[in-house]
Amino acid sequence: MTHDDFTSQAAADFLDRFGRAADGVWSAPGRVNLIGEHTDYNEGFVLPFAIDRRTWAAVGLRDDNTARVTSTFSEDEVEVELAQVSPEILDGWSAYPLGIAWALGENGIDLAGQAGFDVHISSDVPVGAGLSSSAAIECAVAIALDERWQLELDRPTLARVGQLAENKAVGAPTGIMDQSASLLGRRDSAVFLDCRSLRSEIVDLGFQAAGLEIVIIDTKVSHSHATGGYAARRASCEAGAAALGVESLRDVGVADLDRAREVMDDETFRRVRHVVTENARVLATVRALRESGPLAIGEILDASHVSMRDDFEISVPELDLAVVAAREAGAIGARMTGGGFGGAAIALTPSHLVAEVTSQVAAAFAEAGYTAPEIFTVKPSDGAKREL
Ligand code: GLA
Repeated sequence: MTHDDFTSQAAADFLDRFGRAADGVWSAPGRVNLIGEHTDYNEGFVLPFAIDRRTWAAVGLRDDNTARVTSTFSEDEVEVELAQVSPEILDGWSAYPLGIAWALGENGIDLAGQAGFDVHISSDVPVGAGLSSSAAIECAVAIALDERWQLELDRPTLARVGQLAENKAVGAPTGIMDQSASLLGRRDSAVFLDCRSLRSEIVDLGFQAAGLEIVIIDTKVSHSHATGGYAARRASCEAGAAALGVESLRDVGVADLDRAREVMDDETFRRVRHVVTENARVLATVRALRESGPLAIGEILDASHVSMRDDFEISVPELDLAVVAAREAGAIGARMTGGGFGGAAIALTPSHLVAEVTSQVAAAFAEAGYTAPEIFTVKPSDGAKREL
């Protein structure tokens, strides 16, 4: 299905489910993080881009205070009174769209005084691959409600609203990166975001001109950031910052690492070293892209993976194999992307070697006895927008 087909289908499904036409259809993309992992909640730098996999939200306001949500991925229809919506009553997939309504309320919008809405959601962002299918839902609903409720919130504010929904309604203690990429992304470009000031710049990626593609290797090892490892890494970063007497690891530079080693245990030190060097790698990547283009960033991507594997310890054997096999087949740089503990790796690959990378990675997985990965390319794309 083309994206235009998804848009018309979303409008048709809305009509079918709710018996009236939608006010409009809005869409928001998933994201790939090119580099800058676990730096967002440390007030550091990230360099994600929006991808050509999106979520569609067909929305129509109602004349009462009820919100109803349906989707193509579940039979359920969930209904709540807006005045009553809170994290405690939300669970399952509807926590993403309804969490946005709640989070707007936390931002000072009087939910009891707002028109209710019906929303129907569909998506071609793979779930569980670490490509932010959840942020895509949140951002599609956020821009739809912002427009229909005439809130005129700017996109960094909507990103905060999405993050709040994710943190409190969904229960995953994640940072601001995914929603920012989904809302601010631009075709052929990455979003260079300072997660402290929330200032962002669009950086030209130039993949096409350089004859490069981004290959996604979805390992099918599913992960969840609402449990376990992600929160533990976040806690280690906070402990490291506290040991150094700084507000966040953003305030620590590579030159401070010798001192850091003296004042914390080895594991905390390695977590800190990942974040500090990863921030430096984001800056180096932006510089290389601007000065020399994307052919110059391969080694930085590789170094990022090693740091996540050895220092931050968020990789899994499937991700490590994907990275090694892609590099051997001719990718110029590769790393796991997203929160880790599963999900996907990215491989920056010359266009003429995409087929080779795909078959060699698949063969390596088969030989290791791993579940077959899903391998496909993505293009840096525009952020959230109204479609219809
Ligand atoms: C997940 C989170 C992001 C970010 C990444 C790691 O994708 O949602 O906020 O922390 O992990 O870089």
